[in-house]
Amino acid sequence: MSANRAPEVETGVWPAHSSWNDAGEWLIAGVPVSDLVAQYGTPLYVLDEQQIRDRALRIRRAFEAESARIGAHAHVYYAGKALLTRSIARWVAEAGLKIDVASGGEYAIARSAGVAAEKLGFHGNNKSVAEIAVAVEEGVGSIVLDSAIEIERVAAAAERAGRRQAVRLRVNSGVHASTHDFLATAHEDQKFGVTIADAPRLVARIRSFDSLEFLGVHCHIGSQIFGIDGFVESARRLLKLHTELLHDGPVPELNLGGGFGIAYRDGDEPPRIEHIARAIADEVERTCRDLAIPIPDLAFEPGRWIVGNAGITLYEVGTTKSVALPDGGARRYVSVDGGMSDNARPALYGAEYTACIVNRTSSAPPTLSRVVGKHCETGDILVPESWLPDDTTPGDILAIAATGAYCYSLSSNYNALTRPALVAVREGESRLIVRRETIDDLLSRDLEPGEQRA
Ligand code: LLP
Repeated sequence: MSANRAPEVETGVWPAHSSWNDAGEWLIAGVPVSDLVAQYGTPLYVLDEQQIRDRALRIRRAFEAESARIGAHAHVYYAGKALLTRSIARWVAEAGLKIDVASGGEYAIARSAGVAAEKLGFHGNNKSVAEIAVAVEEGVGSIVLDSAIEIERVAAAAERAGRRQAVRLRVNSGVHASTHDFLATAHEDQKFGVTIADAPRLVARIRSFDSLEFLGVHCHIGSQIFGIDGFVESARRLLKLHTELLHDGPVPELNLGGGFGIAYRDGDEPPRIEHIARAIADEVERTCRDLAIPIPDLAFEPGRWIVGNAGITLYEVGTTKSVALPDGGARRYVSVDGGMSDNARPALYGAEYTACIVNRTSSAPPTLSRVVGKHCETGDILVPESWLPDDTTPGDILAIAATGAYCYSLSSNYNALTRPALVAVREGESRLIVRRETIDDLLSRDLEPGEQRA
């Protein structure tokens, strides 16, 4: 690659503002991790706030610039399911993004952060009547309809509220993308959206209601996607449907969802977001030209890409041991004070992570180790194979990288572990943004006979 050409791939597993100092301390945004651990305890989710703000701005600008190049506007939503707290809602809103919420709970977090309802897009395959009513009454920006039943529900809610509600229809494009490749299937068997074949009939139904305004079709092809082909193929397929829908009325937008992959391990090389934005815009332009239709506005919903690499989890090592293997070898187990309750992804998806001892530097040789949690479950493995210093010992602080997305949001109280705190660091300062759960929190919902609390 020539020196003056921007690389087409994105590396950077650890937070952008992290570094080692000469004293052998590891710092995030200028704050030594040992200080964070002393102040907030472990396990601890730590977020590089500036990185989240920068990434939100960068992805919005990338899609806006590429859309503008082909004469379209871009609407960029942050997919709050990746990680949503009031602080994060504010950071992404300040970066000019809208927010996609997938439940009444996510909706409430964004609203209580002061985000206007019109800046929210409401998703989900089974939004309750009550959730729909609140969102519609408050003036939610858009609702993504997932079924024929929801068309009726949202239309009725909008009529009751005396509003014209903007809606999208989620369509299953038949493209399924995973990390490195994509697979197109003719017969879909999954819960989200409606088939392309059913869409014209359902859009006609949407258009039959004065209380609904049809924005366009929506699709989301998967998550943690490295290839660009899946997005391009999906845009192509949806634009054919979009063209058909234009025969009977306006279709101002096309929403292509999220799914942009990030690096979890050294050597992971997701494409740069600017590169993806360019490829999608090129495809939209080309397909619209071929189909002789105006270029619609484009909408996107990135989640992981904005928060994933900005987050790490800090754990304290509790025990280490060597376990003899049947082949005569041995495996070193390093147990930390959290596990599948704060990061379900390895157990759920076989997700791969990078671990490092961060409270000190070590000149001991690396030993192949298995990092495990403290849960009563054999599958509670955070990193199956990790080269950690041979002198890794109880009391060491172990960091796992790229836990910003889908770790806190998927966390649980399994084994009655309390959820970790979330701390934001920026320019040498740390701030608690979600406090650690306590045993009292757990017990407060566990009622004694005769206690009746709503
Ligand atoms: N839009 C829709 C409609 C979605 O369903 C999703 C993710 C997104 C946007 C955001 O996707 P992202 O840009 O974050 O990839 N729990 C899994 C990921 C589930 C993704 C669900 N939908 C994981 O931990 O990998």
